[in-house]
Amino acid sequence: MKFKKVIIYLFSGTGNAKNTAFWIGDEVKRKGIDIEIVSIDKIHNQEIPKPPDYTLVGFCSPTHGFHFPEIMRKFICRFPKADNCNAFVVNTRAGLRIGKMFLPGLSGVLHYWSSLILIKKGFKIVGLRPVDLPSNWLLLHPALRKTGVDLIFKHTEPKVRQFAKNILSGKKDYRALYDIIQDTLISPVAIGYMYVGRYLFAKSFISSSDCDNCGICKKTCPVNAIKQVNGRMFWTYKCESCMKCMNNCPQKAIETAHGFILVFIFLLVTLLRYGLKQLLTIEPFKDLYWLRTGVMEFVIFSVLFIPFLILAYRIMHWLLRFKIFERFIVYTSLSKYKFWGRYKAPKTKNEI
Ligand SMILES: Cc1cc2nc3c(=O)[nH]c(=O)nc-3n(C[C@H](O)[C@H](O)[C@H](O)COP(=O)(O)O)c2cc1C
Repeated sequence: MKFKKVIIYLFSGTGNAKNTAFWIGDEVKRKGIDIEIVSIDKIHNQEIPKPPDYTLVGFCSPTHGFHFPEIMRKFICRFPKADNCNAFVVNTRAGLRIGKMFLPGLSGVLHYWSSLILIKKGFKIVGLRPVDLPSNWLLLHPALRKTGVDLIFKHTEPKVRQFAKNILSGKKDYRALYDIIQDTLISPVAIGYMYVGRYLFAKSFISSSDCDNCGICKKTCPVNAIKQVNGRMFWTYKCESCMKCMNNCPQKAIETAHGFILVFIFLLVTLLRYGLKQLLTIEPFKDLYWLRTGVMEFVIFSVLFIPFLILAYRIMHWLLRFKIFERFIVYTSLSKYKFWGRYKAPKTKNEI
């Protein structure tokens, strides 16, 4: 199919997916084809126009919890049906470099899920490609050093450009399907992340007393998840943990509260075990031995997790007004320490 136009719908937290979309856009421009790159967070309340016939439509976003973040999932779901249009799906993931080896991230269910939806909407899928760029998941690990970041970018950019050339010249590129075994094995975790994990990560952010209320985090949050409660930034459940706020804060006043999360999980597990033990001493529940199994404990833990987290985060937010408590939370956040750093994708050259 000869494409009349290419439209790439983009979501990006720290810039990896943005670079990727622009590398592809660059190749489109070199071919003399009309290119449009649209940030989906800017149009998320608007009606999505039906793509004209013979358009190649791309979806480009980071991987979150072995799937697309909710904003991209919802966007793909409400994308209009199309006739005579092709589509490609590109996800940036957590690439690492150890010595001379470049290690890939994991896409999980993302490509299979989005392909199914897009095929149902009438698209022909011509490209499925994971793109391994530096991990920005700063809740779990410190930011990669600049040399590592630059090397990963240098290693990955030509692959993305080649992918673009392939699909623009009419070839199919399904590189994502090479990972089918590890993606299938990890898929149950994707479901766990969607229903439990993402809420925990969203509630790991706090603003410290270094915050000067400039409001940049609130204004630039792609999903409007940050609000001000009692003069302090507060992360709501809309948060996608995209890391934009934390990495753009000029005062470096946003921390991921590791200490709070550990204490919260410890207290919840302890309370739950104690509560169950007590419950089973009371008459009508005495014979319910199955409640004592590990599986049941896990189910009850999962059900109580979110309401307890809402409560705990609210209490912590209130307590942060006391200097001694605020310092405790800040100094038990690994992100407070210099070695942890922050991650923002470097700006790369392109012609669009
Ligand atoms: C909350 C969160 C979840 C993530 N989950 C995954 C994952 O499941 N698999 C993976 O390979 N990378 C994962 N990552 C890493 C990002 O997908 C990766 O760094 C991506 O390139 C960031 O793109 P961006 O800079 O456009 O936001 C995750 C990052 C965050 C912040």
